[in-house]
Parts: sequence; structure tokens; C-alpha cells
Amino acid sequence: MVTIRCEDVSVTFQTAGGAVRALGGISLETGPSEFVAIAGPSGSGKTTLLRLIAGLVRPTSGWLELSGALPGPGGCIRTVFQEHNLFPWLNTLDNATFGLRMAGVTAADAAARALPLFQRMGLAGRESAWPAELSTGTRQRVAVIRAFLSDPSMLLMDEPFGAVDAQTRTTLQQELLELWTATRVPVVFVTHDIDEAILLAQRVIVLEGSPGRVHSEHRIPFGYPRPFELTMTPEFIDIKRGIHAGLGMRWEPAHAR
Ligand SMILES: Nc1ncnc2c1ncn2[C@@H]1O[C@H](COP(=O)(O)OP(=O)(O)OP(=O)(O)O)[C@@H](O)[C@H]1O
Ligand SMILES: [Mg+2]
Repeated sequence: MVTIRCEDVSVTFQTAGGAVRALGGISLETGPSEFVAIAGPSGSGKTTLLRLIAGLVRPTSGWLELSGALPGPGGCIRTVFQEHNLFPWLNTLDNATFGLRMAGVTAADAAARALPLFQRMGLAGRESAWPAELSTGTRQRVAVIRAFLSDPSMLLMDEPFGAVDAQTRTTLQQELLELWTATRVPVVFVTHDIDEAILLAQRVIVLEGSPGRVHSEHRIPFGYPRPFELTMTPEFIDIKRGIHAGLGMRWEPAHAR
């Protein structure tokens, strides 16, 4: 299981139009088996932070350290992005088992490991479908199965359910939590949706500004499972209100201003 420590990390991109500061001094830590959500508005550097953790972007200043075992072929960090990245020329089963096959697992063994997850995610019987034949929600399910199948040491998820409708998103969230509670793989989950962050994570880190900085951190006291109805409880709404108030967000009808 991988843990992250990062200290005063800044990221500046050099572009044709000049320097763009994406992150301006981020410090954070994650624990083993922890489900952390990173929430914040568009442009606050959430994706840059994930890319930094994945090793796709280097800090301009500050440092970032990943520790913990990265053993064997599966001992890796897996990412699931908002846009599914399935191979269009592979059916859903071959897409889901691609990482395993690359790691040398036989087709029969890979399928035997994948099929229970297909079952659990409501995709039994869809193994030979092509990505183009699937709805967005179903494609994201395949991407989530692929990520969990490789037995990763950490999962990085960037608004993986951002493109699906609210009802499907609710189902996907519950399916993800089911897989997560069975594995307890450390997850860093990026979302702009505060409700989603509170529903899923054990800790929510809120970013603000441009360049992005940590605005606040919130420990979420609920255990698991977390049924959708939790979002309608006074305890949940209190946490949400606290986060929104911290961000200075409040809504009043125009006539009351
Ligand atoms: N490769 C890049 N080159 C130049 N600028 C970049 C690059 N990647 C991100 N940026 C800039 O860094 C800032 C943060 O972008 P980032 O994509 O991390 O934000 P975000 O919080 O993920 O936003 P969103 O919610 O819209 O996905 C933005 O100003 C963006 O334009
Ligand atoms: Mg982003």
C-alpha cells in the first residue's frame, strides 16, 4: 500500500503564452488504505495534483514522496480518468484484463479473475461487447474493473463519474465503495462535487484558487457502507454546510441581498 507525502509543492507550466502556475505550495499526506477526496473548483489544480502523484508531472519546487510496497506486476498505481480510456478494438473482457495479460497472466486465469467483478458490477453477459456499443456509465464500470483487477497499490481517480447522469452516478459510487471496502486500496479521488467527496471519502481535502492551494481538510466520520440516503441526513448536511461556508459560498434570493 502506497502513502503520499508532499511538502510545499508548486507546479508551473511553461506555455507559449507565458508561465502558468497550476499549484502554489501544496502540502498533504495520505495514510495506508485511506480513501481521500480532493475537491475544488475548475482550475484549482486537481488534475495536476493527480498527475504529479502519478509521476506524469514534476514539481517545480517542493517535494513529493511515495512510500510503501510497489511489489510484483500488480504493485502499481492505476488511474481512472473522466473520459474512459478503453481500447476501441478490444471487447470489454479484453479491455478489463489488458493489464493482467501484459503482466503475463493467461487468458483463462485473467477471465476467471475478471468474471466475478463483471458480475458484481452488473456486467455479466457483456464481456464480448465493444466499447462503442456501451453507455458512458458502462464504459466507466469497465475502467473501474480494469483498475481493481490489477491489484494496485494505489488508485488515482479523476472525476471518473463526471460524465454520467446523476442516477447512474449514484449506482457507480455504491459499486466503487463495494469494491473499495473489499480491498481497502488507498484511493485519491478527484471531484468538483462536494456531495460525492463526502459520500465516498474518509477525508476531504478542499483546494482553492489559481494557483491551487489547500483551503481546508475535513475528516468524514461515517463508516461504510454509506448508502445514498446518507446524503440526506442532518449529519451529512452539516458537514457539507461547513465546507461550503468555509469556501464563502452561500446563496440568498436576490431580493434578500
Ligand atoms: N499541461 C499543461 N500546460 C499548461 N497549463 C496547464 C497544463 N495542465 C494544466 N494547466 C493549467 O493549470 C491550471 C490547473 O489545471 P488543472 O487541470 O489541474 O485543474 P483542475 O482543477 O483539474 O480543473 P478541472 O476541474 O476543470 O478539471 C489551469 O490553469 C490549467 O490551464
Ligand atoms: Mg481536472
